[in-house]
Amino acid sequence: MRTRTFLMPIPAALALALAACGGATDTGDNAAAEADRAAQTGTATSPAMTQAPATAAAATAMATLAPTEGNETAGELRFAMVDGRIEVSGTVTGLPAGGAHGFHVHETGDCSAPDGTSAGGHFNPGSTDHGRVGQGAHHAGDSDNITAGADGTAQVSGWLDGATIGDGAATDIVGKGVIVHQDADDYATQPTGNAGDRLACGVIQAG
Ligand code: CU
Ligand code: ZN
Repeated sequence: MRTRTFLMPIPAALALALAACGGATDTGDNAAAEADRAAQTGTATSPAMTQAPATAAAATAMATLAPTEGNETAGELRFAMVDGRIEVSGTVTGLPAGGAHGFHVHETGDCSAPDGTSAGGHFNPGSTDHGRVGQGAHHAGDSDNITAGADGTAQVSGWLDGATIGDGAATDIVGKGVIVHQDADDYATQPTGNAGDRLACGVIQAG
């Protein structure tokens, strides 16, 4: 008669240990899981409890738009690096109903002037002409017009080409300004697109 050896349930014990420190409980695909973790954290170490460095820079930023003097335009914007370009999203309120409005990143994160002119000109680290993003020469700060609905609210879904977030390069938009204009950008007139007065101003912050 053969004696059956009692085997310790090692996989179960391992799963418990991993669960206890917050790691994955799946022990069947560790190589892939470790590779994913290394890719996400920038580390090449394998311990399951490795934490992402506190300084890991997320390539996102935000800005709060406040009205310039005599206007009611405000908003919240998000910026995110996606496939080498910056996607801009958010909501702008307090616009004239139904109109299109120039929308750009400007060179200075200073909204102190009552008319927003302290934000300077369009963000233009490449010293190029003004234009339309995605269609030939344009400033790194050029983005498409935003259009308000009947309620005076615009959903922002634009992008920037030639700009970056949080890398400290000349193209970095962190610390720069954002302006919503009175009129539509014609994507041609130099150097502003003839977009008129500034309705709202914000400063781009990492986060
Ligand atoms: Cu502008
Ligand atoms: Zn421009």
